[in-house]
Amino acid sequence: MKRRSLVIALASAAALFATWTPAAADYPERPITMIVPFAAGGPTDIVARIAGEYMAKSLGQAVVVENVAGAGGTTGITRASQAKPDGYVIMMGHMGTHGAAPALYPALKYDPTKDFAPIGLVAGTPILIVTRKDFPAQNLKDFVDYVKANQNKVNEAHAGVGSVSFTTCTLLQSQMGTKTARVAYRGTGPVLNDLVAGQVDFACDQIVNLVSQIQAGSIKALAIATATRSDVLKDVPTTKEAGLPEFQVSAWNAIFAPKGTPAAVVAKLNAALVAALDDENTRRRLLELGSVIPDKAGRTPEALQALVESEVARWTPVLKAAGAVAN
Ligand code: MLT
Repeated sequence: MKRRSLVIALASAAALFATWTPAAADYPERPITMIVPFAAGGPTDIVARIAGEYMAKSLGQAVVVENVAGAGGTTGITRASQAKPDGYVIMMGHMGTHGAAPALYPALKYDPTKDFAPIGLVAGTPILIVTRKDFPAQNLKDFVDYVKANQNKVNEAHAGVGSVSFTTCTLLQSQMGTKTARVAYRGTGPVLNDLVAGQVDFACDQIVNLVSQIQAGSIKALAIATATRSDVLKDVPTTKEAGLPEFQVSAWNAIFAPKGTPAAVVAKLNAALVAALDDENTRRRLLELGSVIPDKAGRTPEALQALVESEVARWTPVLKAAGAVAN
């Protein structure tokens, strides 16, 4: 028995040493780039900058956000997935780039379940159905009726095929039985600008992007697609209360590194993220924007890998049924 235990111990030490490199031991020695695959000012960018600010303190190096927009977030994620796996390029992905994208892009240049080193989940982000403030519907039921009767005049704005806004409004339109014009932007930051300006009619977007504009009355929130109302938007009914119970959907934002990133580097990045999510100020900023902060068990790289696998499996049939998959 003793010989067997010694062999196992030596094998474990060898495996650990294999992932240890001098670089990993001293990581990070210079600023870290976090690729955000959408335009500045949208939900992915907001979550990245809040989490990145505290992670930088924890790691002792700057975390520099680089916005690389296009193709519903897949352009930036493709670039990040091909970066050197040394921990100096990481990315903020989400339910679109790492859940829906494979169904929407048959020639996608990455596999969300295989081509990344998951670092950790940052925030759950409930989805709201929002319209320009003078849209002729005062509640979700009127909205559905109006869009059905005027679908050749109404337009929806999203952040590109594969984005959360595109994916969730694809589901919404499928459930409403409508096919309006759909306008693609480089992120829902710019979408929000045009909603406020009255240039587009409606969108499905993540709560962190919307709270201040809803509270200011610059746009209208018809419903939130979660089982319970948000603590920061108590007057916005759930889709169930508003008469569309089948529209239940939430998004999430998470940090990934390229596949092959040393385990010691992944562990340091995960520790910095966990510290950020325990930091009172960071929590306050995320919570006041309506985020759902994962518990300890939900913050591990393993939990994120399981989430990605379940989301890819979930969204593929949904998007096929909605006819959204490019054939
Ligand atoms: C989306 O998927 O809709 C993005 O989150 C939009 C954004 O972050 O700009």
